[in-house]
Amino acid sequence: MKSIIENANWSIPSFIENKNYKFDKEKILTSLPEKFIDEAIQSISKWESYVPTPLRKLNKLNRELGFKEIYYKDEDKRFDLKSFKALGGAFAVNKIANEKGNVTFATATAGNHGRSVAWGAQRLGLKCKIFISEFVSESRAKAMKDLNADVIRVKGNYDASLQECIKQSEQNNWEIVQDVSWEGYKEIPKLIMAGYTIMIKEIIDQIKDNSFTHVFLQAGVGGMAAAMIAGFAKFSNSIPKFIIVEPQNANCVFESIANNKATTVNIVNETIMGGMSCGDVSTVAWEILKNATNYSLTITDDEISTVVAMLAEIKLSEEKIIAGECAVPGIIALIGLYKKKEYLSKLDLNSNSKILLFGCEGLTDTAMYEKLLKDGLKKI
Ligand SMILES: Cc1ncc(COP(=O)(O)O)c(C=O)c1O
Repeated sequence: MKSIIENANWSIPSFIENKNYKFDKEKILTSLPEKFIDEAIQSISKWESYVPTPLRKLNKLNRELGFKEIYYKDEDKRFDLKSFKALGGAFAVNKIANEKGNVTFATATAGNHGRSVAWGAQRLGLKCKIFISEFVSESRAKAMKDLNADVIRVKGNYDASLQECIKQSEQNNWEIVQDVSWEGYKEIPKLIMAGYTIMIKEIIDQIKDNSFTHVFLQAGVGGMAAAMIAGFAKFSNSIPKFIIVEPQNANCVFESIANNKATTVNIVNETIMGGMSCGDVSTVAWEILKNATNYSLTITDDEISTVVAMLAEIKLSEEKIIAGECAVPGIIALIGLYKKKEYLSKLDLNSNSKILLFGCEGLTDTAMYEKLLKDGLKKI
């Protein structure tokens, strides 16, 4: 384990401190209103299969790194959908169906969000159209078809699938349930983000205090990260440092923080962290992230398989953890920071640090998981 931490490529290609940091609880809870959060939590906690997901401790990893504690929220156990995304899309579908009745839902997705929308629609016996790019795997497409969704593959990347979804939805009067917001489309993304915040309510109930010092948040369009920050604003009386982690090839939050304005990134090479391969930060998320982010950094794909295998082989905790490719960025970033002492001290990461990581997904793509595990086992 020591040699893996010493020798593998845990590099952090870019790292930035947010010069505009100013945590303003009221402003955050205006962007994501408390009434949305309350309604989401009341609704989701009554769903018949609802149970909080486990908050695990990565004690073996921490023995190497020497912080106070490292916690890992394990979303592999989120319903049968195995990712936190199950909370957002399905909640929005429920609420819209309650208000509008028999509608057809539509969305564009890298996989997990679409599965949530399809699941929500299926539970209500409603139709659902899912647009996916050429990069979404067949196994993810099948998972959505199995939930009775019509899956439409679009040539090009995620953005192309979103444009096609918007076009066809306007022509056919379908109800778009999208996890990214843009000017004029904010209400539904807020509902989706409100659904995600139940993770923070669960964590604070599980840990019985709220004294985290550092929280690592992986970002695609930034919805999850901003929702977690809003969750802290609502449920916690101590505010940790928030560190955004993105793929080097899709670093729209990083560029936006660097430029102090929402900035589009042209994705040239796709990362294998498909759920995080987004070129634009969500408008609602940006309203929160622009001031509440402390640091933003990027990672490469190099050690994803290493961490997937280490979690599966009980090298980082006392129990086996099944983690998909988007679950491991926090661990990669933490080891990367540990290896770069000037970053460690900049972030005040030391033996008093109580760290929270999000294992955003588990076995959401079996073929990808098996490949990562096979590759990783050769390295550990
Ligand atoms: C497993 C997983 N993690 C993280 C993300 C990123 O979330 P967001 O796009 O809200 O930033 C996604 C997005 O699909 C995801 O599926």
